[in-house]
Amino acid sequence: MAEFDILVTGGTLPDGSTADIGIVRDRIAAMGDLAGSTAGRVVDATGDLVSPPFVDPHFHLDATLSYGTPRINASGTLLEGIALWGELKEITTIDAMIDRAMAYCDWAVSMGLLAIRSHVDTCDDSLKGVQALLQVREAVKPYLDLQLVAFPQDGFFRDPTAQANTIRALDMGVDVVGGIPHFERTMEEGRASVEALCRIAADRGLLVDLHCDETDDPLSRHVETLAHQAQRLGLQGRVAGSHLTSMHSMDNYYVSKLLPLMAEAGLAAIPNPLINIVLQGRHDTYPKRRGLTRVKEMQAMGIPVAWGQDCVRDPWYSLGTADMLDVAFMGLHVGQMTSPEEMRRCFDMVTEVPARILHLDLYGLRVGAMASLVVLDAGDPIEAVRLRPDRLCVIARGKVVSEQARNDARLSLPGRPGSVRRRHPVR
Ligand code: FE2
Repeated sequence: MAEFDILVTGGTLPDGSTADIGIVRDRIAAMGDLAGSTAGRVVDATGDLVSPPFVDPHFHLDATLSYGTPRINASGTLLEGIALWGELKEITTIDAMIDRAMAYCDWAVSMGLLAIRSHVDTCDDSLKGVQALLQVREAVKPYLDLQLVAFPQDGFFRDPTAQANTIRALDMGVDVVGGIPHFERTMEEGRASVEALCRIAADRGLLVDLHCDETDDPLSRHVETLAHQAQRLGLQGRVAGSHLTSMHSMDNYYVSKLLPLMAEAGLAAIPNPLINIVLQGRHDTYPKRRGLTRVKEMQAMGIPVAWGQDCVRDPWYSLGTADMLDVAFMGLHVGQMTSPEEMRRCFDMVTEVPARILHLDLYGLRVGAMASLVVLDAGDPIEAVRLRPDRLCVIARGKVVSEQARNDARLSLPGRPGSVRRRHPVR
């Protein structure tokens, strides 16, 4: 009789320590030196990085893998993307949305991405996306935590039926309250939407995650209202502002007042560097603003900041891989997070930090936690961000769900070794 169902041996954890990990059913049963133990399956991770799974705190599963349908985004702007999504949702079906979302979730699992917070559009009266993604949430439950955000894409007040439909979506079981204050018709209606949405979350005991100030307009200050409402309604630690790109362009004095408010209000921030670098600054000539919020400044104030992926092959973004290390890599560059400590932090921003923002209580590599982890062909978190390496083994809820052979280049050079590996850990 095996002591463990799965034993992962010799792996290097993100903090640099080494430990064997013993798994029984869907939980981590033991960690440390487990030499001499028996197991139904042994995964040798000697010299490899063993990490808790990647977590994407911001995505759109209803739109993903739809690139080119019915046309591409010619201007490359957020607003044309929203208009194009409006055309797509008229012609798509629930089955097509399920197929696309399930295909994306397969990609995600192969990359060790085992928790996703996806916004779902709540503006159409048929709530096609909500129906589709509730089914997907159920289907992927054995291996992927899917958290859904009720997202009135066309504006909670701007769209005539968004209020009623967003409430219906929450009644149907959507998990989190979303919104888009900068897309409402006026600043005043944007502010009112933040207040109304936070009130709904407080009344229902739900988390909040708004697309907030995704604009280059320095006077788009809905994040201030979001923080104030979080504080007023006792929602500290339960509210996230996604994008927050206007902070890039804000006056420094105003930001010096805003950051302490956000910290006191327990707000979290979710920038989406791949998308923000593509969509923002489109109205600029030169210099062109880069559209990333003030990541390091927020972190210095103790505000949790996690990288989100946002889009893969959809009306807003034509590329994407479901690899959160691609996201961290871009965030590191645009945010100029180049010190060893900052590079390591970029890895935490696609693992531990978003897990806390999503309130994933059983997340992590510790005894008693859910047995979900990924073995990477890298020596440490910095090398993982640099290489975005193969995911050699992915374990979800105590089951091996994805495996990949190590891929070394074969050389034919006189006087040189026959193969080359790009690994060269930074200590
Ligand atoms: Fe988004």
